[in-house]
Amino acid sequence: MWTRWWLWPLVAVCTADFFRDEAERIMRDSPVIDGHNDLPWQLLDMFNNQLQDARANLTTLADTHTNIPKLRAGFVGGQATMKATLQLSRAPVIFSHSSAYSVCASRRNVPDDVLRLVKQTDSLVMVNFYNNYISCTNKANLSQVADHLDHIKEVAGARAVGFGGDFDGVSRVPEGLEDVSKYPDLIAELLRRNWTEAEVKGALANNLLRVFEAVEQASNPTQAPEEEPIPRDELGGSCRTYYGYPSGASNLHRQWGFLLASLAPLVLCLCLL
Ligand SMILES: *[C@@H]1O[C@H](CO)[C@@H](O)[C@H](O)[C@H]1NC(C)=O
Ligand SMILES: *[C@@H]1O[C@H](CO)[C@@H](O)[C@H](O)[C@H]1NC(C)=O
Ligand SMILES: *[C@@H]1O[C@H](CO)[C@@H](O)[C@H](O)[C@H]1NC(C)=O
Repeated sequence: MWTRWWLWPLVAVCTADFFRDEAERIMRDSPVIDGHNDLPWQLLDMFNNQLQDARANLTTLADTHTNIPKLRAGFVGGQATMKATLQLSRAPVIFSHSSAYSVCASRRNVPDDVLRLVKQTDSLVMVNFYNNYISCTNKANLSQVADHLDHIKEVAGARAVGFGGDFDGVSRVPEGLEDVSKYPDLIAELLRRNWTEAEVKGALANNLLRVFEAVEQASNPTQAPEEEPIPRDELGGSCRTYYGYPSGASNLHRQWGFLLASLAPLVLCLCLL
């Protein structure tokens, strides 16, 4: 019985070929904006986010559903995540350590269209100081950090600016911002650039406090805060992160992935018959 049932998808795959050209024509005009894709999860799982690992090359990455050639072949135009979050959240949203994309085109940074959504939703972008997100090179300086702050202020307003320095989390920091003692130099630079006292205070603390107040108002006060990490053996289901737990926990996922991958050629062969 079940053999007949599982033949149906194969029939569907074969007949779908007739519509392929039409699909491609339409998708060249309207690439898919995919609302959810867990490639970042895979990169965490496979490489512990060590993206400098040569195997993490998105062009040659194997054993994933997603890489750049596959995205091109699938006419995938974008991921909706940043915008979807800003549109769906009942409370303002925090970019905890991202800078301005139009000043340095790193994917960590926030593009102008998203900055406008940040403004609309009274959200916050906390500027990261890592040289490579500031200048898109290994070298950067304090004045270039101020350029990011100026840009975000210009596009999203002074209420949208904060600091997400990343000290002790990054290997390269800007000249003039070598450690946490240098914050006053950055504030001085903003004042030199005509930021008002209220704007500077907003960037220092008040904007974050405002956002947290709004988050608290939007949250469910009857729900207990979850502050203690739950021991892994008490967690059910597979939809959770293994980050921070001892490794080797996700072998089951890999086995399933391998099984599905090895079935794929079988499906293709049957289809060609
Ligand atoms: C990734 O692989 C492609 C194709 O082999 C190669 O051209 C590119 O330089 C690689 N990128 C990095 C960062 O190694
Ligand atoms: C910061 O770096 C930029 C780009 O290299 C340079 O044009 C600028 O003069 C530097 N500013 C200071 C204060 O060193
Ligand atoms: C700051 O304001 C002063 C006085 O209005 C003006 O002369 C100066 O050009 C402004 N500086 C910047 C960087 O906008």
